[in-house]
Amino acid sequence: MKVSFAGTTIPSDGALALGVAKGGKLGALAASVDKKSKGGVRRAIKAASRFEGDKGQSLEILAPSGTRLSRLILVGLGKPEDFDTRAAEVLGANVARRVSATGDTKVAIALDVTKGFKIDEDKLSARIAFGARLGSYRFDRYRTKEKPDKKPSLKQLTVLTAGNTSAQKRFAILDKLAESVSFTRDLVTEPPNVLFPKSLAAHAESLASLGVKVEVLGIAKLQKLGMGSLIGVAQGSSHEPYVVVMQWNGGKPKAPPVAFIGKGVTFDSGGLSLKPASGMEEMKFDMAGSAAVIGTMRALAARKAKVNAVGVVGLVENMPSANAQRPGDVVTSMSGQTIEVLNTDAEGRLVLADVLWYAKDRFKPVFMVDLATLTGAIIVALGHNQAGLFSNNDELATRLVSAGDAEGEKMWRMPLGEDYDKDIDSDIADMKNIGTGGKAGSIIGAQFLQRFVGDTPWAHLDIAGTAWLNKDNPTAPKGATGYGVRLLNRLVADHYEEK
Ligand code: BES
Ligand code: MN
Ligand code: ZN
Repeated sequence: MKVSFAGTTIPSDGALALGVAKGGKLGALAASVDKKSKGGVRRAIKAASRFEGDKGQSLEILAPSGTRLSRLILVGLGKPEDFDTRAAEVLGANVARRVSATGDTKVAIALDVTKGFKIDEDKLSARIAFGARLGSYRFDRYRTKEKPDKKPSLKQLTVLTAGNTSAQKRFAILDKLAESVSFTRDLVTEPPNVLFPKSLAAHAESLASLGVKVEVLGIAKLQKLGMGSLIGVAQGSSHEPYVVVMQWNGGKPKAPPVAFIGKGVTFDSGGLSLKPASGMEEMKFDMAGSAAVIGTMRALAARKAKVNAVGVVGLVENMPSANAQRPGDVVTSMSGQTIEVLNTDAEGRLVLADVLWYAKDRFKPVFMVDLATLTGAIIVALGHNQAGLFSNNDELATRLVSAGDAEGEKMWRMPLGEDYDKDIDSDIADMKNIGTGGKAGSIIGAQFLQRFVGDTPWAHLDIAGTAWLNKDNPTAPKGATGYGVRLLNRLVADHYEEK
C-alpha cells in the first residue's frame, strides 16, 4: 500500500473517508460533497438517524451523486479535544481495513475538522497513516492459493490535510518504525520448524546492515561463560542454543548503554513437564520477547537514535527427549547461584536468569528491561490488553507506563516483595524455579528474575497476553502484535537520547 499526503481537495474518484466531530456538524469537505450531491449527504445522515459523530460511529454512502466517488465514509471522531494520536491511528486502521474489503484500490482520508484538537493536525494526520500501515499488516508467506477477492484491495492511501508537507515528514519516521513492528510480527508468526534458535539468530544478524554490531554466541561460548541454567533448557532439543548480543552505538562513546533482554523460546513444549496438546501450537510465539528486542534494535538503528543500546536475547527450544532436563535436576547459573528445576515448563526464567546476569555483568547498563512471554497467569490477571510490569525502580516503571500509554502498548504494574521471594527458596539449592503454593504465578516468575539483576534498575514485562491476539485489534490484526517495539523506541526517544 502506497501512502501519500495532499492538500484538502476532494479526490475525483475512489473512496473518501471524512471525520465528523461529535454533534454531527459537517466539515468543509463533507459540506462540499453534500453540495455536489444536492444535499445527499445530509439526507443520508438524517436517514441513518443515529449518526451523530460519536467516537466509533460511521456511516457509508455508496456512489454519492454528483461525484465519481465509489463511497463516502463518514467517521465519528467524538469530541475533538479527546481525539489523540492513538485515536488517529485507530481511525486510519479502521478505514484502511474497511476499504480493503470492498475491492476499492484508493482511499483518501481527512479529519475534516479543524477546530478543538489538542494535538496539531499534521501529527494527527501522520498517525492516521501510521495506524493504516500497522492495521494492514498481513503474513502471506505460506499462502499459495488465496482467491483474489479475499485479498486486501487497497493500493493507495492519501491523507488530506492542510499541513501535508510536515505530516509527510512525520510519517516518514513512523513508517520506518512500522517496518520494525512488521519485522517483529513476521518473526513471531513464522512456524517453529522454520524459526528455531539458529535461524532466529540469523535474522538478528541481518541488523548488521543497519550498523548494529551483532555477536552470536554458540554453545561452546555459553558453556565457557557458565550459562548452565540456559543450556539446561536447550538440552532436550536437537537445536543448539544461542545468545545474540546486538549493540547500537549512536550515543557518546563509552556512555553506559540501555539494555533490552528478550526471552526467545522458539518452541515451548513444556519439556518433560509436557504441556497439554490443545493449544500447544501457540507456543511458537514464546520467542516474542526476543523478537521485540530485535525489532527495537532495528528501529533504533534505522532512525540512527542518539543512544547506546544493547539487546541480548536467549534463544532455545524447550523439548522433551532422552537428553532433556528432568524435574528435580539442579543447574548452576552463570551468576553462580544454583537452581532446582522442579518444572521444566517454567523455562523462560531459566533462560533469562543467565541472559540478565550476562547483560548486567558485561555492560553495566543504565537499566535493563526484559520482555518475556513468561506466564499464563498474567493472562488470567490482565487479559490481552495490558502487559504485566514488574520493577525495582519507580522512575523506570513510570517512564515505561507513559511510553506505553502514548503508543497504545499498555501495561499494569504488579507488586514484588520479600514475602513472594521466600516462596522460591529451595530445600537443596539456592532456589527452585516454581513457587510452593502455585498462586501469584506471574509475581513468582518476576521474583525469580530479580535474583539475577543485582542493583541494576530493572523492569520485567510479562507479555504472554499482549504478544499474540486471537481476535483483531484495530492496529494489530489477529496474531502477532509486535508488542514492545513501539514502547521501547518511545522510551528511548523520550528519556535516553542526547538532544
Ligand atoms: N511460555 C509459557 C507461558 C505462556 C503461557 C505464554 C501462555 C503464553 C501463553 C511459560 O514458559 C510457561 O509454561 N509458564 C508456566 C509456568 C508454570 C510452570 C510455573 C505457566 O504459565 O503455566
Ligand atoms: Mn513453559
Ligand atoms: Zn515458555
